Amino acid sequence: MNAQEIRDTFIRFFESKGHAYVPSSPIVVKNDPTLMFTNAGMNQFKDYFLGNDQAAQTRVANSQKCLRVSGKHNDLEEVGVDTYHHTMFEMLGNWSFGDYFKKEAITWAWELLTEVYKLPKEQLYVSVFGGDAQDKLDRDMEAFGLWEPIVGADRIIFGSKKDNFWEMGDTGPCGPCSEIHIDLRPAEERAAVSGYDLVNADHPQVIEIWNLVFMQFNRLADGSLKELPAKHVDTGMGFERLVRAIQNKSSNYDTDVFMPFIAHLEKRSGIAYGKEEKTDIAMRVIVDHIRAIAFTIADGQLPSNNKAGYVIRRILRRAVRYGYTFLQFDQPFLHELMPLLAQNFGKIFPEVAAQEAFITKVIQEEEAAFLRTLENGLRLLETLTTKLQAEDSRILPGAQVFELYDTFGFPVDLTSLIAREQGFSIDEAGFQQAMDVQKNRSRAAAEQETGDWVVVGQESSSTFVGYDHSTRETVLTKYRTVKEKKHTRYQVVLAETPFYAESGGQVGDTGWLTVGTERIHVLDTKKENDLIVHFVDKVPGDPSQPVYAEVDTARRQLITYNHTATHLLQAALRQVLGEHIQQKGSLVNERLLRFDFAHFSKLTEEELQQVEGLVNAKIRENIVLEEYRAMPIEEAKAMGLRPFLEKNMVTRFV
Ligand code: ALA
Repeated sequence: MNAQEIRDTFIRFFESKGHAYVPSSPIVVKNDPTLMFTNAGMNQFKDYFLGNDQAAQTRVANSQKCLRVSGKHNDLEEVGVDTYHHTMFEMLGNWSFGDYFKKEAITWAWELLTEVYKLPKEQLYVSVFGGDAQDKLDRDMEAFGLWEPIVGADRIIFGSKKDNFWEMGDTGPCGPCSEIHIDLRPAEERAAVSGYDLVNADHPQVIEIWNLVFMQFNRLADGSLKELPAKHVDTGMGFERLVRAIQNKSSNYDTDVFMPFIAHLEKRSGIAYGKEEKTDIAMRVIVDHIRAIAFTIADGQLPSNNKAGYVIRRILRRAVRYGYTFLQFDQPFLHELMPLLAQNFGKIFPEVAAQEAFITKVIQEEEAAFLRTLENGLRLLETLTTKLQAEDSRILPGAQVFELYDTFGFPVDLTSLIAREQGFSIDEAGFQQAMDVQKNRSRAAAEQETGDWVVVGQESSSTFVGYDHSTRETVLTKYRTVKEKKHTRYQVVLAETPFYAESGGQVGDTGWLTVGTERIHVLDTKKENDLIVHFVDKVPGDPSQPVYAEVDTARRQLITYNHTATHLLQAALRQVLGEHIQQKGSLVNERLLRFDFAHFSKLTEEELQQVEGLVNAKIRENIVLEEYRAMPIEEAKAMGLRPFLEKNMVTRFV
């Protein structure tokens, strides 16, 4: 059977047992703060287990895209070095939501493996939960009792909490599990040493293939276990391992899941796979990582400098470095694997095939950017290690690890990996310290000492009247002193104000407050929650006197032009580059506008000209202002206006 047939057979088998097929959920998790990436097939069903939601079907099966590179389940360091861990892998699973339990899960798993896939029974072992004193849980004698007539007691291993109690994360659904392991060693080795003794011993040929979890508890934040309202089954089989077992290979990478990709790298590098450990590892890392990178981008996560985006950037850089150092690839190469990926995985995961061109471009740009600094960084690292060696030191100082990170974009784990290859370790504490120093430096630069508010007369909120007025007769409600490094300023709040407070990138208004004969300069206006705060150079001699507030309208007018131009620019960018253009940040003041957006490549000269042309043409149309206020959302949408989101709320339509 080829990989595709093996996957289809799994789904068909469980369909014949009354299961409905459900598509894989995205690899990037958007709405669960306990997870960054999908790390198990059950993630999308978490609420069914916890009883927060009712499943429409009580039996389902699927193949889920998983990524185990962060959090509780993290295999990154093993990937490529060994032959059976992956960053991204497919997990085949069948689930029961309060329907069948241990008996059916065990019987069907055995039937599928031995009767359908025809895996040799004498090479299979099973483990069951051996109990845990701290959690006050007994051995799972029920699972043992179900397995015994099938495999015999001499093939059942009682496992610890680490191996046989599965948890999604630090909190969440969990329960005892029963794993099925296969011994893929040659017959003579199996005869010499029993596979029974090698289960869960990190033997590369005696590996777990399927985990049957009997969901019974919710792990709470205080560490205790709470019974779930119902009992469920959650199983997960490593697809790549299953294919290897069925195709009788000694490595996951020798199967048709990975071989087409390795063949491409062999051709591209002129180096044969299987000849040398170092180049083999590099090829395995690359063919593994390209899947993680491409699938994640397909699900909407672009490489970036933080959170999930940084994890992907790190994986991509790791792959680029392996290719560069061991396969002599000094030009972008990862993106060339995309056609193969779309071809091999497009059927089960149509999203990669549908976005092939886009993903290719993102990867290519990202690798080109990293390759530009990689060489310099590696050179610096080499000079450093040579110097350290001469000094008989084996530790890379934190300051240099930080420099590599800060200037050359080397993720710390990459530096640590390269260092390890050369027999060095890195000073992690020193790195952290250098990082903190930088953070503190930027904090100190912004330091100021803010006094307490002095309330004048009645405390009240501040009302913005600046949409219709540029001047206002009002009163000062409170003020305070702000001591900064060089000077002292004041902040004042007015009962009503025509001053626009900085927001959405538009700078705050400036102008004047006149109190009696005193003229006070308003230097800036900002929001503090709902309060509109004016930054002034002095407080009036008598703060209880009426205040005449007056916006610098000449400046405001210039800002208004730039604000409108920002909307024109965004619309033009969307027209020229595509609908993915969104505002990531912006600055609008009286002199200029800046609009930040994410696009997978630098704009070409023609694209810039097109955008400029569109914006200028709109300006020349001299469109008359039509203003609608407080309009129902549906009506605004019907007029073809686009909702403008701030903090996930529609604040206005443009
Ligand atoms: N949720 C279980 C696992 O990931 C099946 O191993």
